Amino acid sequence: MNDIFDTPRGLFLSLEGGEGTGKSSLSSTLSAKLMELDLEVTICREPGGTVIGERLRKALFNNEDQDHREKPFINPDPRTELLVFSAARSQLITEVIRPALNSGNIVICDRYVDSTFAYQHYGRGLSYELIDETVNLTINGLMPSITFLLDLDPREGLRRHGIEDQMNLFGDSERIGGNNYLDFESLDFHDRVRSGYLEMAAKDQDRWMVLDANLSPSELTRLAFERMALYLRSK
Ligand code: TYD
Repeated sequence: MNDIFDTPRGLFLSLEGGEGTGKSSLSSTLSAKLMELDLEVTICREPGGTVIGERLRKALFNNEDQDHREKPFINPDPRTELLVFSAARSQLITEVIRPALNSGNIVICDRYVDSTFAYQHYGRGLSYELIDETVNLTINGLMPSITFLLDLDPREGLRRHGIEDQMNLFGDSERIGGNNYLDFESLDFHDRVRSGYLEMAAKDQDRWMVLDANLSPSELTRLAFERMALYLRSK
């Protein structure tokens, strides 16, 4: 298997999926497997991964200054979201992704532009054209060679994030789980995100691989690794 990795060349992989689908676990296990083969791997996540990107992430997700008894989180305007995610991405591409690819590294990015289409277009309803234009402003044609979609029913994903019952979100009793305000969107929103992802994946099967997020971490790692090897062999 090692031979296909002999010539150093950059390879860009992205991981996509809804909340609680296990992207960060797959990112860790896949990178560990690649590092065992002495490959240089760069892992990153969106939004974040740079000093400016982490600050932008906090601008959206930090909620320390909010009163949770009133409302769990303050929701930004969808255009604000689009611009903040895009700004963080722009910085990540310049500082991390392009240099790593130029050095021949394998880059594994936990979320990339497809998240913006899934959440801001399919989820929020911003027009495809607006998002396409904004995305193109930042990426300058840089797309992943392979995108792994961890597909899961949002009910299960949200449960994994500790949100058992959407109906009780605004109740005043127990502490609720979840990472950020997007976790607390309606199930309808999360269903739209999921079907948006599946639609994008179906349209471009060369780039996308849909993985059933109910599979075990080792099985998911094996499948992702095999797909990567297949891709490299075909080059
Ligand atoms: P994060 O805490 O990183 O969670 P996850 O494990 O789900 O990736 O949250 C990132 C959130 O930001 C997630 O709900 C998806 C959302 N998001 C967008 O809406 N648009 C984007 O372009 C990106 C990159 C993320």
